[in-house]
Amino acid sequence: MMAGGEVQGLAGRRVLLAVSGGIAAYKAAELVRRLREEGAAVRVVMTAHAQQFITATTLQALSAESVRSELFDSAAEQGMGHIELARWAEIILLAPATASTLARLAHGLADDLLTTLWLASPALKAVAPAMNQQMWRAAATQRNVQSLCADGVLCWGPEAGDQACGDVGPGRMREPQELVRQVIAALGGGDLSGVEVLMTAGPTREAIDPVRYISNHSSGKMGYALAAAFAARGASVTLVSGPVALPPPAGVECIAVISAEEMLQAVLARVAACQLFVACAAVADYRARTVAARKLKKSEAQESLWRLELEPTPDILATVAAQPQRPWVVGFAAETHDVENYALAKLQGKRLDMIACNDVSRADIGFAADDNALLVLWQGGRRELARASKKQIAEQLVDTIVDVWRSREG
Ligand code: C5P
Repeated sequence: MMAGGEVQGLAGRRVLLAVSGGIAAYKAAELVRRLREEGAAVRVVMTAHAQQFITATTLQALSAESVRSELFDSAAEQGMGHIELARWAEIILLAPATASTLARLAHGLADDLLTTLWLASPALKAVAPAMNQQMWRAAATQRNVQSLCADGVLCWGPEAGDQACGDVGPGRMREPQELVRQVIAALGGGDLSGVEVLMTAGPTREAIDPVRYISNHSSGKMGYALAAAFAARGASVTLVSGPVALPPPAGVECIAVISAEEMLQAVLARVAACQLFVACAAVADYRARTVAARKLKKSEAQESLWRLELEPTPDILATVAAQPQRPWVVGFAAETHDVENYALAKLQGKRLDMIACNDVSRADIGFAADDNALLVLWQGGRRELARASKKQIAEQLVDTIVDVWRSREG
C-alpha cells in the first residue's frame, strides 16, 4: 500500500490472478485488495476446486470485475473472450498454486479455463505454491516446478512454517504483501526502479594445485537474500558470486566466478555502470603464491611438513572505494570480538560509505545459519538490526542502505 500520496507501484498495470484449490485460496481476497491498492486492474479466474475455498462473489466484489471459472461460458465469452483475456494480462499470477495445477501447467494441459488461459497467454507468469510439505517435497512436484522455471515461469515461495494440516515445513503460500512486491518488481516498477546495484557474494576459492584450494565457510545466503531484496524493490541487480549451492534469485543477473582475482575483474568490468556497490563476499584473504600445474604429492613434503607460501588476494572492496568515480559503497565485516571498533576502523580504513557487521562468534547467526543480526554503521549514524531470518534482515538492510544513500545523495 502506498500511504500518504506516494506513487502506486502498479498504476495502470493488468494482473490476471489465477486461483487454484487449496486452503491458502482465502488469501486471494487480500491479494486482490492489495494489488488494487497499488493501482492494478485485476481480473480473477478460479479452478472449480478453488470455489470450495473462497467464493467468486468475494473476489468479484474486491476486483470489481466478474470472476470466471468456466471455459464454455457463452455469456462470459460475449463480454471478454478467453483469448482476449489471455492477451489482456501483463502478468498471470497463480496464487495459490496447488500441486495438481502446477502438474497440469508443467505438462501443458489445457483442460479448464485457467490452464487454457495460461497456455494461450504471452504474459509474464508467476506461481506461488501452497500445499502440504510432503506434497511440495515430492519428486514429481519438484520436477514440475523445475520444468516450469525452465520455461521462464517465476516461482515465488513457498515459505516454511506451520501448515493448516498441522504439519510444519515448506509449503505455506508467500504472504500477499510480499507477492505484490514481487509483481511490482517483475513488471519493472518499485521505488528502486532504474537503480543499478552491483554486489559480490559467497566465498572465493584460491587454487593450490588442480585438486586443492583455500576457501571458507561462507554459504552466500546473506548476499543472495540481499540481492533478492534489492530486486524485489525494482533495482537492476548484478550479483558476482563465488561458488555456492544456491539458485540465482529471481530477476537477478548472476555472474559466477571462482577466485578473488576473477571476482575483482568481473566487478571492475561492471562498476562504472552502478550507483550502489555492496560487497557481501567472504573473499579469501590469501592465495598460494604459485599454483602448481599438477597435483602435489604427499611425498614432496619435506620432513612431513608442507610449507605453502601465501600472498594476499586483491581487496575488491577497497579497490572499488579507491576509484575516483566511485559508486556508493557498502561493505560487510565478520568479527568475533570488539565488533564495533573493528568495524569503525574498517569503515574509515577502506573509505566505505557504510558497513554491516556480523558477530560470527555466535553459533545461531551468521555464516551458514538461516538467521542473522547486524550492526550497521556509517559516518554519523548506526542502526542495530535484531536477530531475524536472513530474508527479513536483508529487507531491513536494503531499507537502511536506501535511506542513508538517498539522504546523502541529496
Ligand atoms: O577486511 P575484511 O575482509 O574484514 O573486509 C570485509 C569486507 O571487504 C567485505 O565487504 C568483503 O566483501 C570485502 N572484501 C573484498 N575483497 C577482499 C577482502 C574483503 O571485497 N579481498
